[in-house]
Amino acid sequence: MGQTIAVTGKGGVGKTATAALIVRLLVEAKQGAVLAVDADPNLNLDAALGLKAEETVGDLREEGLDRTASLPGGMAKAEFLRMRIQQALVESKGFDLLVMGRPEGPGCYCFANSILRACVDKIGKQYRYIVIDCEAGLEHLSRRTAGDVDVLILLSDLSVRGLDTAARVLELVAELDTKVGKTAFAFTRPADGFPAELQAAAKERGLPEPHVIPEDPELRDLDVQGKPLVEVSEESQALEAVRSILRGVGVLK
Ligand SMILES: Nc1ncnc2c1ncn2[C@@H]1O[C@H](COP(=O)(O)OP(=O)(O)O)[C@@H](O)[C@H]1O
Ligand SMILES: [Mg+2]
Repeated sequence: MGQTIAVTGKGGVGKTATAALIVRLLVEAKQGAVLAVDADPNLNLDAALGLKAEETVGDLREEGLDRTASLPGGMAKAEFLRMRIQQALVESKGFDLLVMGRPEGPGCYCFANSILRACVDKIGKQYRYIVIDCEAGLEHLSRRTAGDVDVLILLSDLSVRGLDTAARVLELVAELDTKVGKTAFAFTRPADGFPAELQAAAKERGLPEPHVIPEDPELRDLDVQGKPLVEVSEESQALEAVRSILRGVGVLK
């Protein structure tokens, strides 16, 4: 398995934008193959990366359950799902994308999920880096779909709720005994500086020394024009901030 980098935090804090910029920086660094995983049910990492994903792993899960009863030539469920996941991969320049899709419904999908996890793990082996845009609730991390995490990037806006979400992720990690290599924390989009009490509140919650991902006019413009966020220039302030986070955790030199 390559190095897993998971980006998480409250909704709207900039997870998808940050994950997309991480992918861009890793592709540019040419340190090895990159797999981007959209594990947020809002499904917008593909657009941020300038791609369109037609199928999600969630679709496959349901289809897998329905179809495996009548598989051709005694094909095993695991083999069938592995093949279909490979088909769902969107291949792009320097990286691939896998979209998880919405979380499972109320029924018991445990068996299909465990097969699925094994398949994703297997596919993950083909990459040096796996960048996961996690939903705020960290469903996938808690179900270990993401497996253990090498680098956990927690983001928060300038709110106590944002900090609480980030802190809850840390608690969850401890509770589930998920192995996390390094953790980085960043405040996103501070207007003009940020209140000292939030810094104190972050410290109180055991969050690491914060980075700052500034409000970036380039990202805003790309948003307005509906263009992929990875199209920021080398001068982008957000790109620079994300680069510095990746250097801090030793992913980039
Ligand atoms: N640093 C930033 N500067 C300007 N706009 C940003 C920045 N980070 C995120 N955005 C924009 O804010 C919105 C929410 O960000 P997004 O990454 O989708 O959040 P999340 O994935 O956490 O819900 C998006 O339109 C995104 O392009
Ligand atoms: Mg998102």
